[in-house]
Amino acid sequence: MTDSRIAKAPLGTGGPEVGVQGLGCMGMSFAYGPTDAQEARATLERALELGVTHYDTADAYGQGENERFLAPFFAAHRDEVVIATKFAMTIPPDEPTRRIIRNDGPYIRQAVEASLKRLDVDVIDLYYMHRRDLDIPIEETVGVMAELVREGKVKQLGLSEVTGGELRAAHTVHPIAAVQSEWSLFSRDIEAGVVPAARELGVTLVPYSPLGRGFLTGSFTDADKDLTAGDFRRQQPRYKGDNAARNAALLDSIRTVAEAHGASVGQIALAWVHRQAAVHGLPVVPIPGTRRRTRVEENTAATRIALTASDLAALEPIAAKVAGTRYADMTFVSAGRE
Ligand SMILES: NC(=O)c1ccc[n+]([C@@H]2O[C@H](COP(=O)([O-])OP(=O)(O)OC[C@H]3O[C@@H](n4cnc5c(N)ncnc54)[C@H](OP(=O)(O)O)[C@@H]3O)[C@@H](O)[C@H]2O)c1
Repeated sequence: MTDSRIAKAPLGTGGPEVGVQGLGCMGMSFAYGPTDAQEARATLERALELGVTHYDTADAYGQGENERFLAPFFAAHRDEVVIATKFAMTIPPDEPTRRIIRNDGPYIRQAVEASLKRLDVDVIDLYYMHRRDLDIPIEETVGVMAELVREGKVKQLGLSEVTGGELRAAHTVHPIAAVQSEWSLFSRDIEAGVVPAARELGVTLVPYSPLGRGFLTGSFTDADKDLTAGDFRRQQPRYKGDNAARNAALLDSIRTVAEAHGASVGQIALAWVHRQAAVHGLPVVPIPGTRRRTRVEENTAATRIALTASDLAALEPIAAKVAGTRYADMTFVSAGRE
């Protein structure tokens, strides 16, 4: 143990304490171009040394490949880690931009068995519905998820990209431990409905893409020019062309705050997300994704940056100025239904 271990936060009311920053593992197998598997495995180990105990995956990431990739790490550290995975989304291999969403009972039951097998575990610690199938009432979906808890296949339930109203309806059926939605200096739509509902119900907020998929670190400035052909970010309007150029200019005010703290731009973006726990009065456990040891060190160190009131004031106007939406089809996420 070193004194560089991060602080902890609860995952849902009465749930386990996890490191206040988790690790998003999606990019290790999916969406963000080629991966150095050896470095990714070393990143998982380094994260654990730093106190990261909550690891996020989904069955959709690489058609199960991400869950399979993580299985040996989980097997080596089963008692130290909280494993979060998700069901609901299939991406046909020959149509990588298409998403098939299912929330019905028979689908959930086959999905959970497949994830348990790929992860090679007896129980999933946190099981999320990844996306809403609007043809199925959320109460029905959560009813099936609650059966999985009673059967011992799953410990806690989570929902991704639900509205505040959907979260409230779901919570009447079974306690929801976590909502995972996009939340960052560039994406603040969940503050209107989802965050207040989560606070009221004792639900932990798990912000995904807290680094704006890397854009908020300055590691790329135009998806079409800087990223490889199949990279998912090339489908997202805000990271392309004129939008990307305008959005890159928004990093200047983050850079000013970063210089004052002797920190990187990405660290300030993460420190801002961590600070939202105090601002909104609920546990916030972001899951920045990285495949590199040096970056997990940098990202976890951001948990120790204390932003001042004047830093927060300087960062406040950014989100309203972002050009382009976070998804091409916003009905795919909660903001399109809120
Ligand atoms: N529920 C959902 O619908 C949903 C959607 C998207 C993502 N997620 C989950 O959330 C996790 C995180 O989101 P995300 O990966 O989309 O976005 P993110 O965490 O905002 O950014 C990840 C990107 O930033 C780069 N990066 C990370 N740390 C960096 C640093 N210190 N300096 C420079 N670049 C850095 C990573 O590259 P390297 O890997 O090369 O370091 C990667 O390209 C995912 O892994 C996934 O588990 C969930």
